[in-house]
Amino acid sequence: MRQTITQISLTRPDDWHLHVRDGAAMAAVIGHTAKQFARAIIMPNLTPPVTSTAQAEAYHERILQALPQDSDFQPLMTLYLTDTTNPGEITRAKNSGVVFAVKLYPAGATTNSASGVTQIQKTYPALAAMEAHGIPLLVHGEVTDPAVDVFDREQVFIEQQLAPLAAQFPNLKIVFEHITTRDAVNFVLEAGANIAATITPQHILLNRNALLVGGIHPHNYCLPVLKREPHRQALLGAATSGNPKFFLGTDSAPHRRGAKESACGCAGIYSAHAALEFYAMAFEQAAALDKLEGFASHFGADFYGLPRNTDNVTLQRSEQTIPAELPFGDETLVPFFAGEVIPWTAQ
Ligand code: DOR
Ligand code: ZN
Repeated sequence: MRQTITQISLTRPDDWHLHVRDGAAMAAVIGHTAKQFARAIIMPNLTPPVTSTAQAEAYHERILQALPQDSDFQPLMTLYLTDTTNPGEITRAKNSGVVFAVKLYPAGATTNSASGVTQIQKTYPALAAMEAHGIPLLVHGEVTDPAVDVFDREQVFIEQQLAPLAAQFPNLKIVFEHITTRDAVNFVLEAGANIAATITPQHILLNRNALLVGGIHPHNYCLPVLKREPHRQALLGAATSGNPKFFLGTDSAPHRRGAKESACGCAGIYSAHAALEFYAMAFEQAAALDKLEGFASHFGADFYGLPRNTDNVTLQRSEQTIPAELPFGDETLVPFFAGEVIPWTAQ
């Protein structure tokens, strides 16, 4: 009989896809990520979006100011790609030492994406500069065509946008963010070593029933939306395969409770309070806890060309009850698995 694993020690992980917002909201959430992770790629979809290196540097400074006193957490900043991002801005980003990637939001695809890209060809000069400088393009991979069913938007994006883009810029590093389908897994597997993907905890723990069965569950709504069970299984298989093309990116995306529990609820799941524990739950389901360290702590750093962390975190098989809500500026947010007992606790 397999022996129950009671403790796992891992190289300290990094979160390669994170939203921390700004101001009091940021101050309320950043400590959760800083407690578990050494570094995180910080998404630029603020209002207004972080489109310049100067804005990224100022945001970087605000994050450092909001960190707990003794924290040596490192925010890795990103720029928000627009139709008019120019190659000079990419060079400034490269030279800044704080900007590590550029994020592509198709205009209208998700939260604060109104200033995103309307036509990918408009960004080619910026993409050529990124390819030359080795700056990764982080892709929100969904088409926005109202005629395309929301559950098919990732798959159609691959065919219509991502495959042609990858062919046009064969040396551009691309991270296909928060993949949600078997189609995305297959695309990444078949692509060159310059193309990788992040996987969130929700997309390997839940399928779309968690959103829609027994009533609508707005706190399980994110974009790209949860998919059918075979897709969840394909993602779990990829995450636990030991293939370095797949690595951890929580997409933890806090919204105040009222913005989620609304007639038009916002997309975003907050998972930073127990991110590593959620991944451990999924990896254990696949009997692959031995694959967690590569996924969480090695492959992302290797892809970005950054050193792996040298200290460790420990996961204990020790139950914790997730709070029903957490403070969020003047309001509260409802965290992933709110009110439930989960089997792991990170230390
Ligand atoms: O669910 C999501 N929330 N998906 C995104 O792409 C954006 C994010 C947010 O900023 O809330
Ligand atoms: Zn995101």
